[in-house]
Amino acid sequence: MSAPASPLYILGIDTSCDDTGVGVVELSLDGSVQVRANRIWSQTVHARYGGVMPELASREHVERIDEVMRDALAEAGLQVSDLGAVAATSGPGLVGALLVGLMYGKGLAQALNVPFFASHHLEGHIFAAASEATLQPPYLALVVSGGHTHLFDVPQAGEYVLVGATRDDAAGEAFDKIARLAGLGYPGGPAISEAAARGNPDAVAFKEPLQGQKGFDFSFSGLKTAALLAHRAGAGADDLAASFQRAAVHVLVKTTRRAAEAQGRRTVVVSGGVAANAALREAFAATDLHVVFPGKGLNTDNGAMIALAGAAALRGGREPSSLTAGAMAYAPLAAG
Ligand code: KG4
Ligand code: ZN
Repeated sequence: MSAPASPLYILGIDTSCDDTGVGVVELSLDGSVQVRANRIWSQTVHARYGGVMPELASREHVERIDEVMRDALAEAGLQVSDLGAVAATSGPGLVGALLVGLMYGKGLAQALNVPFFASHHLEGHIFAAASEATLQPPYLALVVSGGHTHLFDVPQAGEYVLVGATRDDAAGEAFDKIARLAGLGYPGGPAISEAAARGNPDAVAFKEPLQGQKGFDFSFSGLKTAALLAHRAGAGADDLAASFQRAAVHVLVKTTRRAAEAQGRRTVVVSGGVAANAALREAFAATDLHVVFPGKGLNTDNGAMIALAGAAALRGGREPSSLTAGAMAYAPLAAG
């Protein structure tokens, strides 16, 4: 691990989906990192469709990115010339949306003559927890977001072994779809969480998905179908939310615990949009695992997590990326 000669400011950009995120982290002489700014423009244009419209997302990133970057620099109290490196998400994500941040980041790095790092979106989610604790492998990482539900073993820095993944919907996708079904709005995660506080978790009986499996996969489509049937049978939105949330949290924690035991890991990083869920945090906190969550504003997609991934790349002595690096819709972090 190499530390810089003076504090280094790294700008991170994420435009992989429907949030225009720009963050700044400070990499100190001792190798520690601190988030100095984290600005997110969350696109609302998609709400009426109940899901993200890729072309609209790209256009809005183009319109907003400059403003979000300036806001991030102002929040950090920096000038653009203070930046020592730039990182941007290159995948996975919506290609048109990714291209906006990637091209912007590359252009900025070239103009400033500083290193550029093309970052992996999921690695960014994992590194979002790095500002909370200096992440030292080995650990297990559960990434639960609107597009991903992956369980990685991280035996050493930069090495990811896929231990389990969803076989159908992502966890956040299930929250979003069930919220829509129950008329609770979009994005569904926060809406379900709020409604669940008013509902009865015993109202709807959900069968545990993949019960008895030897592996560590996830499945949410059965919960979605069960929610649809319960809704048709007259279950109220709050009860449905409370019962579904409990079932989803139970299976996420149970499978992760089993995986941690099997891999001999005690530290678990839980990140991605669903990691903002209070019930999930409480359930993990009640286990005997050492669980690390990203701080406030770092769970859902953001630029600071990409800047943190950039800081890890610099610390680890990784070669900067080529300015010809392209955007990738599909980019597995690890083989299964
Ligand atoms: O990480 P993220 O911003 O985007 C992806 O990379 O997919 O995650 C967004 C997802 C959405 O599905 C949203 O409903 C979910 O995270 N989410 C939550 C909560 N806040 C956001 N799910 C459960 N509880 C929450 N409090
Ligand atoms: Zn994400």
